[in-house]
Amino acid sequence: MDSGSCCNNIVLIGFMGSGKSSVGAALARSLSRVLLDCDTLIEQTESLRIAEIFAKEGEAGFRQKERALAEWLAHNVRNAVIATGGGLPIFYENIQNLGAVVYLKADFDTIHARLSREERAKRPLFADASNARALYEQRAQIYAARAHHIIDTDKMGDSGGIHDIASAIVARLESKGISQ
Ligand code: S3P
Repeated sequence: MDSGSCCNNIVLIGFMGSGKSSVGAALARSLSRVLLDCDTLIEQTESLRIAEIFAKEGEAGFRQKERALAEWLAHNVRNAVIATGGGLPIFYENIQNLGAVVYLKADFDTIHARLSREERAKRPLFADASNARALYEQRAQIYAARAHHIIDTDKMGDSGGIHDIASAIVARLESKGISQ
């Protein structure tokens, strides 16, 4: 498997609410890199919120934009931290073209407890908890298969804060010689 050494990006994947954006920000700061958040980039480009894009163009329209962004990132971005949307590595099979792919693994119950009602409302695919759980079950194996590295955030216990997770990622990548 390619180690993601193409462009030296660190690509965070995982289910909605697994901490990709907040861990990504901490990781970018600690490595003095830029954070690119895919959902934010799509929202800024479209001048619409994700939920509005889903309402206007359906999930298929959103996936098209997400895929186009992923292709652009793969061709144009180097040395960044990239926080993906939860569906990107599912619908874009070439995720490893973007860089070293790190899966932030968390149990569904942890995620559900962590996301406020407001945070769930921003995510059309989290509108119904039992559908979201089914989606989680469908996707878990795919995230693991498409990642170069898996960080089990539930197993981190008390040291499972954002900064500790970022440090664990740095340590993992350093051990493979690919974080600096
Ligand atoms: C999605 C995850 C969301 C966002 C969209 C679809 C998904 O991003 O891209 O609502 O299919 O899992 P987050 O993972 O940042 O919530």
